[in-house]
Formats: sequence, structure tokens, C-alpha cells
Amino acid sequence: MANEDYIIRPAEIEDLHQVMRINQKTLPENYPYSFFVELLKKFPKSFLVAEKNGEVLGYMMNRIEKGLPGVFTSHFRANKGHIVSIAVLPEHRRKGIGKRLMIEGMKAMKEYGAEEFVLEVRITNEPALAMYKSLGFEVVREIKGYYHDGESAYLMSRKAEDIQIS
Ligand code: COA
Repeated sequence: MANEDYIIRPAEIEDLHQVMRINQKTLPENYPYSFFVELLKKFPKSFLVAEKNGEVLGYMMNRIEKGLPGVFTSHFRANKGHIVSIAVLPEHRRKGIGKRLMIEGMKAMKEYGAEEFVLEVRITNEPALAMYKSLGFEVVREIKGYYHDGESAYLMSRKAEDIQIS
């Protein structure tokens, strides 16, 4: 999972302070330390960081949820890979890091049995929307007032079928 100057690898507990710093710097949706630890412990393969010389440049954390049928899954108790949070430091954007985190994260969630991937994104978050669309995600519906400040979210989804686990 190496690239010219950074690697994508599963996060370790020691990375979480850097992950939390990126989360707080780049997103209005922040979580307590215990939430990061819980996701790391439950889904260690799909909690990823992009790292260069010990510095975390970006992260992606996910969870597998059993839920109602989705767009691409017609049965009850379908396994959905929920992208909980992804962010890249501003000075390292547009280098393909976000996309690589997404691809490796989807592979890992598929290994956990995900049949479909889902996420919520602010309807004005154009960079993220563009990235998700470039990865085959489609808008399922708008969730009015989803965020604490009243902004709406798009619920987006993508099937897991064509993601290759290497
Ligand atoms: N404007 C338009 N399209 C953009 C874009 C921008 N500012 N940023 C990314 N994209 C699209 C492009 O299609 C891009 O491919 P290209 O560079 O070949 O044109 C594709 O997404 C992948 O870009 P990539 O370089 O892999 O993304 P990134 O490393 O810059 O990370 C985010 C993308 C969304 C993770 C990053 O902008 C970020 O951290 N934003 C703040 C946190 C956030 O909003 N997270 C998502 C919450 S739902």
C-alpha cells in the first residue's frame, strides 16, 4: 500500500491523537477519544491512516452495520459498510490520498462482509461529493437538517460487488 512518499496502513492506537487533531481541524463533526478507540478495536482493518515519516496526513474510519435493505441489497440484516469519517490535511489534498484511503477502506470493509457502502455528506461539500461520485457513489436521498447546524446531508451509496480484495 505504499506510494512515492506516503503509505496507507491500518491505524494504531498511537495514531489516534493525530487522527483526532485532523478531525478537529477539518470537520465540524468531532467525537470523543473513546469513539475513535471503539471503532479501531471493532474494525481495525478498515480504520486507515495515510502516513509519511511518522506524520498522519489523513485518515478514514468505518463501521459495519446490519440494517434495513439498501439500494444494492434487497435482504434484511444486510451488511453495510458505513464510512463514518474521512479527512486529509489541507496541505496534502488533491494528491490522491483521499481516494486511496477510500479504495483501501472499501476493500477492508468488504473483507468484513460489507455488501454495500453508505455515507452521509453535507450537500455543500463539493470536494467530498466529487470524490465520492468519482468512486461510483450515487445520491440515494437528501436527509433534511441532518447536521447539528441544520445543514442537510445526502445519503450516498455504492455496491461492494466490484471492489476487488487483493
Ligand atoms: N474540487 C473538486 N473535486 C475534488 C476536490 C475539489 N476541491 N477535491 C477532491 N476532488 C475530487 C476529484 O475528482 C479528485 O480527483 P482528481 O484530483 O483526479 O481530479 C478526487 O476527488 C479525489 O481527490 P483526492 O486527491 O484523492 O482527495 P483528497 O486527498 O484531496 O481528499 C477529501 C478529499 C474530501 C477527503 C478532502 O477534501 C478533505 O479532507 N475534506 C475535508 C473533510 C471532509 O469534507 N471529509 C468528507 C466528509 S463527508
